[in-house]
Amino acid sequence: MRLKGKVALVTGGAKRVGRVIALGLASQGCRVAITYRTSQAEASETVRQIRRKRVGGFPIQVDQRDGPAVRRAVRQVLSRFHRIDILINSASSFYPTPLGEATDADWQDLLSTNLAGPWYFAQAVAPIMRRQRSGKIVNIVDTAAFRPWTNYLPYCAAKGGLVTLTWGLARALAPHVQVNAIAPGPILFPPGISAREKEQAIRRTLLKRAGSPEDILQAVLFFLQGSDYVTGAVLPVDGGRLLA
Ligand SMILES: NC(=O)c1ccc[n+]([C@@H]2O[C@H](COP(=O)([O-])OP(=O)(O)OC[C@H]3O[C@@H](n4cnc5c(N)ncnc54)[C@H](OP(=O)(O)O)[C@@H]3O)[C@@H](O)[C@H]2O)c1
Repeated sequence: MRLKGKVALVTGGAKRVGRVIALGLASQGCRVAITYRTSQAEASETVRQIRRKRVGGFPIQVDQRDGPAVRRAVRQVLSRFHRIDILINSASSFYPTPLGEATDADWQDLLSTNLAGPWYFAQAVAPIMRRQRSGKIVNIVDTAAFRPWTNYLPYCAAKGGLVTLTWGLARALAPHVQVNAIAPGPILFPPGISAREKEQAIRRTLLKRAGSPEDILQAVLFFLQGSDYVTGAVLPVDGGRLLA
């Protein structure tokens, strides 16, 4: 796919990894809509930087646990840009939920944000991409979908579900739409992670270092413009974590 002039929707694009993906796509000439839930100032700043690259961009406030809100967000992108070529499901919720301490609300929240949200977005863009006879969806999962951390089981189960969804959507949306996933290892640590936990996560990779959001962007760019013959793939970008 040639990216110049294409329309991308990047969830969680206000900051961190999603922001780097959004700006990277804008640098390639895409018009980019980003979603955020609470980070309004960061979303405005990201959009300002997108527009500085002389492409269109705008922020959409949405809680992706809410299906109707997601459908409204997708309609907003369509009415503004008249097509949607690319969906990057990057928004995510992540916090510890030790067995015996996690609440039902934690389970609902983590499954809704990390699995239902990407499903709502994919289901809303699917008819648009089918009509265009072209489209790309990239779901950002986690190596923890395959090597679950015991203190984060609802998050890991949601990401495992998102892997299955990637395979299923690749089948359902063939032959015109490609659906792939990226499984990052340690890239950007969330606030509140201790130095010991960081050191442990890095030690568990083969390459003995954390990756960067730029590594994730490069994997996204491969799925979008590197090849149109890849669908249903899950690419680890994890410094070898899954083999270590
Ligand atoms: N960072 C890593 O090292 C790493 C490792 C493995 C996998 N990943 C995956 O890579 C992706 C990007 O990682 P990240 O660390 O940049 O993500 P993140 O900072 O944890 O989350 C990205 C954004 O998701 C948004 N979000 C959370 N709950 C939401 C909801 N209910 N509705 C709408 N938006 C919501 C938040 O937006 P607001 O700030 O606007 O509220 C947040 O800024 C995620 O899918 C993550 O699971 C990351």
